[in-house]
Amino acid sequence: MTAIDPRFRPNGRNWPLIWAYLIECGGSTKTSSATSMAVTAALRGYPGVVFDLDSNMSSSLILGYDETALKGRKTALDLLYGRATLDEVALPARYRIGTGYDDEDFATIPNLRIVPSSPAMAGADTAIAEDADRNDWFLELLRAYEGDDTVFYLDFPASYGKMPYSVLRMLDEEDSVIPSIKADPKDVKLVKRLAEELERVREKNRGRRSVPGRPTLNRILLTGTPTATYKESAARRAAELAQATYGAVLLPYVRYSADAKKLYEDECPLPILLPNSAPAVDYRKVMTHLGFIDRAR
Ligand SMILES: Nc1ncnc2c1ncn2[C@@H]1O[C@H](COP(=O)(O)OP(=O)(O)O)[C@@H](O)[C@H]1O
Ligand SMILES: [Mg+2]
Repeated sequence: MTAIDPRFRPNGRNWPLIWAYLIECGGSTKTSSATSMAVTAALRGYPGVVFDLDSNMSSSLILGYDETALKGRKTALDLLYGRATLDEVALPARYRIGTGYDDEDFATIPNLRIVPSSPAMAGADTAIAEDADRNDWFLELLRAYEGDDTVFYLDFPASYGKMPYSVLRMLDEEDSVIPSIKADPKDVKLVKRLAEELERVREKNRGRRSVPGRPTLNRILLTGTPTATYKESAARRAAELAQATYGAVLLPYVRYSADAKKLYEDECPLPILLPNSAPAVDYRKVMTHLGFIDRAR
């Protein structure tokens, strides 16, 4: 028995692992965590791909591609429509060091690629509803994939529509659904709905032979937790609630930093922009906890 159906990974391996950053809650830190964890792993020598599946294009921006930079390029939507392959869509992750759009205005992040999103990804659920074959886009992508990435990091919009479903049904038990949530009791309470949604996906696919159908809520990431100077009582209560309810799957905390907001202004991921900030230090701890020790040096 293996916990990853070998038909959907190259050479019967259990990797790339699929990590789905999902929770039906806007501004919950999905993008911050997906990009920070991916960049931390990449800098430590583990290659990966971030899939920006949200029409707000946040992770595309943080990893070096705004709408101007993406003009004429293929995006996640082309994957969904089966019009392009992963290698045709994925771009080298980078961050802004200048103000223009020439090569010298960006520095490349080694070991990391980004599948950029587009505003049209807002119609992804409808595109699948119109043509049921499109529900297989991620299945086809996994079947065709032959690379050496360690993790696919999937950054989702805040919804449980048909597009997230088309990906979730391809997850197996060793893959992870990772709700990244702010330390706020109301965000912690939303995790229950996610667990119910995953149970619905499993139920729907039980006994099906063509897909693994076992998305598992085996990690929870709490961000914006209290520090010596940030002592919100709501954040403290959220941490207590998360510990009591989900202690067994709770990752090390990612502490609060007002500077985390700068990611979007500076178009640069947190581990590179502010490597010594509390959350950047904590994302390194999270990745170490998950077994991604530094093998770059
Ligand atoms: N550790 C942190 N402390 C404080 N604010 C944070 C932290 N991490 C992220 N943020 C901020 O939270 C906001 C929402 O984050 P984002 O990752 O865009 O959420 P989502 O992708 O779930 O919509 C952003 O303004 C971001 O800068
Ligand atoms: Mg986001």
